[in-house]
Amino acid sequence: MTAIMERIVNAGGSAYRIEMGEEDLSGVYPGMKRFTVQISSEDSILGIMRTNSCEYSPLIPIHARDVAEETVTRWERDLLRDPGSFVSSLPPIPRTKTSGRENSAVIIQGSPRPTGNCAILASWAADAAREAGAETTVLFPHDLDIHSCIGCYQCYNTGTCIFQDDMTEVIDAVSRCRLVIVCSPVYTNTVPAGLKALMDRFQAFHAERTLGGQAGRGTGLLLAVAGRTGTENFRCVKAVAGAFFSIVGITPVSPILVDGMDRIFDLRSIAGLREQVRTRVGDSLVRD
Ligand SMILES: Cc1cc2nc3c(=O)[nH]c(=O)nc-3n(C[C@H](O)[C@H](O)[C@H](O)COP(=O)(O)O)c2cc1C
Repeated sequence: MTAIMERIVNAGGSAYRIEMGEEDLSGVYPGMKRFTVQISSEDSILGIMRTNSCEYSPLIPIHARDVAEETVTRWERDLLRDPGSFVSSLPPIPRTKTSGRENSAVIIQGSPRPTGNCAILASWAADAAREAGAETTVLFPHDLDIHSCIGCYQCYNTGTCIFQDDMTEVIDAVSRCRLVIVCSPVYTNTVPAGLKALMDRFQAFHAERTLGGQAGRGTGLLLAVAGRTGTENFRCVKAVAGAFFSIVGITPVSPILVDGMDRIFDLRSIAGLREQVRTRVGDSLVRD
């Protein structure tokens, strides 16, 4: 971090140091600059405020640097006015979480139909993962409380999302597992809305992981079905799943794509498919 400003404030018989610094986070998020204002006393950090350039949208002509500078001015003023109540009003200091990969698999069943073909793929994948000794969780985004990402970019300041909903458990499970399996039907050439909402919210995990300097680990497998015939129907779903795996920091393996489902109707009638899923899941679990 490049230091920009430092103020020493003597208030209530104590000396406080307010520092402001700038970081170029282009490596984490293209073009992002982040400003940090930190207050400390006797070498213990009392409060941190962060703001980044992506928070401010085209119709709000505010610059992150100005917001940080105003924070320095405001903190100095409030400290001189009433140090006790100012210090107790400071927000909690963001902490970086670290998590190791466990021998577990998370299966995200992305179709809103709980009894459709993706549900069958998910149950086959779950059986295979358990058979391979992995603790296995199947998530059904359609039944979860997942607020859409609103692009506030606060996660790049704090490492966590502003929304407290079922994504806390989803991110926790995915961050610890060895294998993530995404089961998705093709909906209007892409993934269903509920699954997309879940994927978008992983931006907060990307922020937590990359700002905490954690390298990605683990494997991602896509199992997808399309009503129409032809592999071109999976182009967008493959790209979306690939972007998701990249955000999570996991390496994708070759997907299993089943087209022509409107004609086939029940994929249990496809010879050898269940075995193919079993082998791919087993191989993916020993990859990492
Ligand atoms: C809203 C909606 C949009 C769909 N869009 C496509 C599409 O763009 N391309 C395609 O091949 N199939 C499309 N389908 C068909 C589904 O991909 C197909 O029926 C799939 O087998 C459903 O999976 P499920 O049984 O797991 O729900 C669509 C189905 C729905 C309900």
